[in-house]
Amino acid sequence: MTDRERDAVADVLSSSRLAMGPEMDAFEAAMAERCGTEHAVAVSSGTAGLHCIVNGLGIGEGDEVLTTPYSFVASSNACLFENATPRFVDICPDTYNIDVDRLEAAITSRTRAVLAVDVFGQPADWPALTRLAEEHDLAVIDDACEALGASVDGRPIGSWGDAASFGFYPNKQITTGEGGCITTDDADLAARCRSLRNQGRADDGRMEHVRLGYNYRLDELSAALGRVQVERLDELLAARRDVAARYHDALAPLSDDLVRPGEAAQTGTTRSWFVYVIRLRDHFAAGARDRLMDELQDRGIGCAPYFPAIHLQPYYRERFGYERGDFPVCEHTADRTLALPFHPQLPPGAVHRVASALKALLPTLPTSTRAPNASPHS
Ligand SMILES: Cc1ncc(COP(=O)(O)O)c(C=O)c1O
Repeated sequence: MTDRERDAVADVLSSSRLAMGPEMDAFEAAMAERCGTEHAVAVSSGTAGLHCIVNGLGIGEGDEVLTTPYSFVASSNACLFENATPRFVDICPDTYNIDVDRLEAAITSRTRAVLAVDVFGQPADWPALTRLAEEHDLAVIDDACEALGASVDGRPIGSWGDAASFGFYPNKQITTGEGGCITTDDADLAARCRSLRNQGRADDGRMEHVRLGYNYRLDELSAALGRVQVERLDELLAARRDVAARYHDALAPLSDDLVRPGEAAQTGTTRSWFVYVIRLRDHFAAGARDRLMDELQDRGIGCAPYFPAIHLQPYYRERFGYERGDFPVCEHTADRTLALPFHPQLPPGAVHRVASALKALLPTLPTSTRAPNASPHS
């Protein structure tokens, strides 16, 4: 945070509007401009944004939404909020995004939409996704919570599909503390999302509630913070890119044992660095990642098993009966991926400390006795 954010928030505190005021309008305008869309609707979180989009597209009971099991749980939860059924489709082993080649086979007469995620800021295959969706008359939702600033073929994330949702939790490229934003070119959908975020009010400002809505509003303090952060986005992205590049170089000597992020990025895509997630190569035993995490944490290096597979979360297992083996590429990835410390101010010394710890620990980890070609990554 700089004095610009501090001043913007202080100005709101000295003003007469703490909610639904000019800062929200300015933040929305900045987001729409940055994402190249006609409309932006600020909301209280990325999850709220996804919920508004699913509801706003009229997706509900009896409908199926194709989505990825390798994501943060909010992406498929947004379907459950409206009693729609998330239908998981396995992922690409290299980009970790939904595998478009598997999508067509998963389409049924009940499929209404595809909800794809730009995992860790790496764009999904939007040209292929939107082509397929058009052929099958499906709506397209982008969970862009991790990808502000990314693009495909020069077109910003946020402008693909029917609508996108961004999240601004403090670990994201920009933050409003808590917050989110929907971007879309669809004027009707934007109007419906505005109504949904404000208790289902009609858009004429009267106390008339025309649908079941929610309190998903973003307050003026958060919006002011967000407005300045969007203005600083290029600088914030560059700082993240520098830290990622430093990791990339420091971990290069370890590449026989681990896969660095972005090594298999699709051509034409520009990643927006969100987290730095490494993957242990296939010769390690399944439990090696957890051992590595424990050892790193013992050395004071924070790390996380990121993402755990959604379909194996207790709630999803109980409700849908999912089991290990249902989405093998996702599970194989989720068992081997690990998020390292990552933020725009991470000093070079910290990157080198992490790299040294990995160098010392990797040779001590258990290896697998399985034939290498038994793995979905081979
Ligand atoms: C892929 C993805 N989807 C949805 C969300 C939810 O965003 P929020 O925490 O703002 O509700 C997140 C946030 O971590 C995310 O990473």
